[in-house]
This record gives sequence, structure tokens and C-alpha cells, in this order.
Amino acid sequence: MMAAKALPGGRAASAPLLGHDIEPTIFEMSVAGRAAYQLRTTGVAATPLNELVPSTHLNPDVVPLAEVSERDLVAHFTRLSHRQFSVDLGAYPLGSCTMKYNPKFCDAVAADPGLNSVHPGAPAELTQGWLDLLVTLEETLCVITGMSAATLQPSAGAAGELTGLLLMRAFHTANGDPRRRVLIPDSAHGTNPASVTLGGYEVTTISSNDRGLVDLDALKAALGPDVAGIMLTNPNTVGLFEEEITEIATAVHDVGGLLYYDGANLNAILGVVRPGDMGFDIVHMNLHKTFATPHGGGGPGAGPVAVSSRLAEFLPGPKATRLADGTFDWTTPARSIGRVHGWHGNAMVLARALAYIDVHGGDGLTRVAQHAVLNANWLRKRLSATLPAAYDRTCMHECVLTAAPLKAKYGVRGLDVAKALLEEGFHSPTVYFPLIVDEALMFEPTETESLQTLESLAEAIERIERRAASDPESLHRAPQTTPVSRVDEARAARHLVATEDAAQR
Ligand SMILES: Cc1ncc(COP(=O)(O)O)c(C=O)c1O
Repeated sequence: MMAAKALPGGRAASAPLLGHDIEPTIFEMSVAGRAAYQLRTTGVAATPLNELVPSTHLNPDVVPLAEVSERDLVAHFTRLSHRQFSVDLGAYPLGSCTMKYNPKFCDAVAADPGLNSVHPGAPAELTQGWLDLLVTLEETLCVITGMSAATLQPSAGAAGELTGLLLMRAFHTANGDPRRRVLIPDSAHGTNPASVTLGGYEVTTISSNDRGLVDLDALKAALGPDVAGIMLTNPNTVGLFEEEITEIATAVHDVGGLLYYDGANLNAILGVVRPGDMGFDIVHMNLHKTFATPHGGGGPGAGPVAVSSRLAEFLPGPKATRLADGTFDWTTPARSIGRVHGWHGNAMVLARALAYIDVHGGDGLTRVAQHAVLNANWLRKRLSATLPAAYDRTCMHECVLTAAPLKAKYGVRGLDVAKALLEEGFHSPTVYFPLIVDEALMFEPTETESLQTLESLAEAIERIERRAASDPESLHRAPQTTPVSRVDEARAARHLVATEDAAQR
């Protein structure tokens, strides 16, 4: 037997691994000379590598890859996958993040070799099908949002936000004054102020009123000729529809500002109301939330940005374009801000999104929004005695509840409830966001959860409440039955150890 390497906890690499609490890294499992598979020798001499690839392109160093058998390799990643909670495993009501189940049909489309074996640098005459797909997606997104033109380049929501702010700046600069400030409500997602700063603007925060909406008077008081625009999510991050959006749009436009729509919550209004009709000038969409492709976990995303006609000439390029003769080519808008992606965007996320839109059709997309809103309101009502809503009104696709009563009665916090839900087989909701709600727990069930699943989730929360009354201490230690128990999240963020030996520190 090969010499075994010591693993964390003093185990040997050759020890059976199932059931151990710490999974070694693939490098810790490595044994010199072991290989995933070996081909039978045919007697035909192999061509030396430097005859196939010019030596200037060959790496002279040996790349230190893990040497493991195929069995160990597959088992390692299978074990790791069993330690995850995923959208394929159960309800993932992580508010604002829209972790909905993604139809496998969309993956099948993206796996088509006709799509995924094409190099992004291939000339337009050889990739007419791909260009057609991109143009059709752009046109479809414009219909859905009520805008005129779009870019598919941004890789995620935050990248879309930055693109939108660069478009805002380009527009104002072209009009002779880039302006100085961008307004953001105090309930906004953290990426909004970060994007404003990266876009070279100053943030002015607008307070929310006691109904969880933008305070119109505070907004009007903050407006002036130096305001480049406002960034809004509608429904906002409290899950509520900004009812005074028309008044907000008029007030901002009256000072020459632009309205930016953070489309992270677009899944709530699909086919019901359009940002363009509300008065927005720039819209980003999180395709990875609204139209298939799981969000989070480091997977690729897509944050296309759609604009009204007066901003179209500034869009990033090159972009796929339908020519007068019905063929397609790459063109760059007249006053483009340039590229915001190395190629044309995260192509497979774009392909999945078009597949999702196509398979649902207009009526299907409307039902997605209606069911998402119905599910969130059902849960809000069902839980009202345990976790009351922060704002007790009809919500949109997500509901912000508060654990403040549990804290007052039992000393049990929102974080404890969220962690205990993991023991119950549900992913936690978003906690402590938005910042304006005390002990916030933000649930977004999405349209994909059934009534039975929602009822089970509600029963799990009621069990946690009973536990809070009888044994609050145990909730401070939850979860205990998961592969990883309660972690010190502040320490993890402040002392990041992003190396393979992190488990030993
Ligand atoms: C309201 C809101 N805006 C922006 C973003 C940023 O999107 P992304 O994570 O794709 O960068 C999110 C992400 O959850 C969000 O919820």
C-alpha cells in the first residue's frame, strides 16, 4: 500500500472517508503515481507534446495536480455535493436572492453542442444562429421591460448596475454636465451604493416612510440640478410595490435626472407591469434570478441592461444586430461606453433565459409573477402569529417578517430561527436585510413551491417557536444536525483563510 498522508484530525488518506466530519481536500487525498484511469498500451509511439504545441506555449513547470483514482475522485465530489443544500433538494426561500427551482429543460438547451461548442470569436457569417438567439433575447427583454434597446454583456446584477451608471454618466456628459449625485432609498441592496461610487457619483440616501416606501417629501427635498438620477427597485427590498412611482418619476425627470430600475425583483411583475411604463430610463435584469439559472454559489449570472431610446447610442458594443436583409452582424452603437465584458456576455445563461421565456410564453410569465406573489402573501398570513410582517400589508413576491417578538419573549434572534430552519430541512431565509427592519427575516418562496411545501415550512417555524419557549439555549447553538454546525460568521468574514489548510486553523 502507498504511504498514506495524514489528514486533518490525524486520519490517514487511505482510511474510509464516509461518515467523517471533515472531508479532506482533493490534494490531501493525492498519492504520488495514482491516476484516474490508464489506457492500454497500443504500441503506437505518442507524438511528443512539443511537436504538437510550440515550446514557447508550453509550461516548463510540472503542474501540481492531485493524483487520485477515479473512484476516489467521484466519491469526493459526490460526498461534497451531499453536504450542500441546493435548489434541487428543497425549498430555498432566500429573500431578494430568488433561489427558485430552475427547469432542467433550460439546462438541456444550454447543453446543446450546436450552442456550446461555438467559440465566441468565430466570425458572424459562421454563427448566424447564435446572433439570432442574442438579438431575439434582446428584443424579448425589451418587450418585457418596455424599453427600446439592450446590452447582454454584463455578467451579473451588480455588473449591470455599474453599466447602467456608466450609461447615466455618458448621457449627462453628452449633455454638457455629468452631474454629481445619485439618490438611493435607505432600504436599497448593498450593491446599489457600491455601484454608484464605482460609477464616480456620490450617494444621497432617501429615507423610507412608515409604510416601507420611498418618502416622497424626502425625495423632493433631495432633488436638485446636480442629481444624475435615482436607483430604485420596484417592488422594493421590503417586498412592497412603490405606489407613488409615477410621482417619483415625474419629480426626478423634472430636474433632468434619470430613473434606474434595479431589476433584481422583476420576477414579481413579469407580464403585469413594465418598468418602461413606470417611467424608468435604465433597467438591469438578473436573468439568473428571473429566468432560470441558479443564483449564488459562484455560478455565472447575466445582468443585461435595457434602456429607453435616448440612451441607446451609449450602449456597450459590439452587440449582435439584425441587418436590413435579415442577416446578423456585430455592430457598435455610435457613442458606446465600450465593452463591459471580455466577450458577448455569459452566453449559456443567456441561452437558458431565452429557453425559459419561450417555454412559458407571455401568459406563463404572468403566472410566474402571480404565483410568486400569492405564495409570499400566503406565507406572510400563515406566519403572522409567530413572525409578524414588518409592514402589515399585501406584499409582492417576498415578505419581510420580524423575529423581534421572539427576541423580546425568549431572547431568540432572527439568526437563531434561520439556523434552526436548516435542521428542519429548509434553507434559511435572508436575515438582517433590509437594514431598516429589526430582526428581519426575508422569505421569498418563489412560484415553484407547492402549498404543501409552504405548509411544512410554516409548521417548521412553529416548532422552532415552541423550542424557543422550552429550550432557547439550544437555538443559540443551532444547527447541530448539519455537516457544518454554527459558525462564527463575523470571524469568518474578518479572518478569511482561503487556502486548502483552512480546516486545520
Ligand atoms: C435588490 C438587488 N439588487 C442587486 C443585486 C445584485 O445582483 P447580483 O448578485 O447578480 O450581482 C441583488 C442580488 O441579490 C439584489 O437582491
